[in-house]
Amino acid sequence: MIVTIDGPAGSGKSSAARQLAKRLGFLFLDTGSMYRAVALAGHQQQVDWQTPGELARIAANCRIELTDDRVLLNDQDVTEQIRTVEITRLTKYAADNPEVRKTLVETQRRFADGQNVVAEGRDQATVVFPQAECKIFLTADETVRAQRRYLDLVSRGERVSLDSVLKHQRQRDQQDEERPIGGLRKATDSIEIKTCGMSPAEVVERLEALVRERM
Ligand code: C5P
Repeated sequence: MIVTIDGPAGSGKSSAARQLAKRLGFLFLDTGSMYRAVALAGHQQQVDWQTPGELARIAANCRIELTDDRVLLNDQDVTEQIRTVEITRLTKYAADNPEVRKTLVETQRRFADGQNVVAEGRDQATVVFPQAECKIFLTADETVRAQRRYLDLVSRGERVSLDSVLKHQRQRDQQDEERPIGGLRKATDSIEIKTCGMSPAEVVERLEALVRERM
């Protein structure tokens, strides 16, 4: 069974999807971390960001492994490194690159082959797993999302202001929505849930109930 959870940054989907997978005993596929890992690989290899073919080659040749809570890039644990403000900014070069997307979509489908999976991202219901049995679209007001991301960054020692987090989030939302391939879109058969005013535990409970209805 495939469960897809798509939505904008800060909608609470990462932690909800991870918890949901744990409760159901499903594998968790965090696709955003794959785009982040490709951006980090490009950064490490000092790629020319204006030459998309270079990053596409790096994506095709690097090995990204996801475990329950760690992300490995070529056997190196990069779980924290991929979440810095700098790598978050550079991730657009991976996400905007059609060849990188093609490589990662194949990797995501291979990961899910024959497995029960909760897959989280932007294009999981529309592009990667259009056949998924349960499709969820999580959203929240932009100020609620920015506040969550701000608290998350501060707790990891980043020096940021709420204003700058909101500004970058708006840019990222716009990039995600306008991306011609793999852009953020709600599938016609997705169930939309607004998470404003819901606690993380309530979100997970709601999701679990929706999935169990379809099992
Ligand atoms: O979900 P997360 O914030 O970690 O994703 C990082 C970036 O990767 C997003 O801003 C988005 O641009 C991109 N992404 C994507 N397709 C996905 C998942 C993430 O383009 N399936």
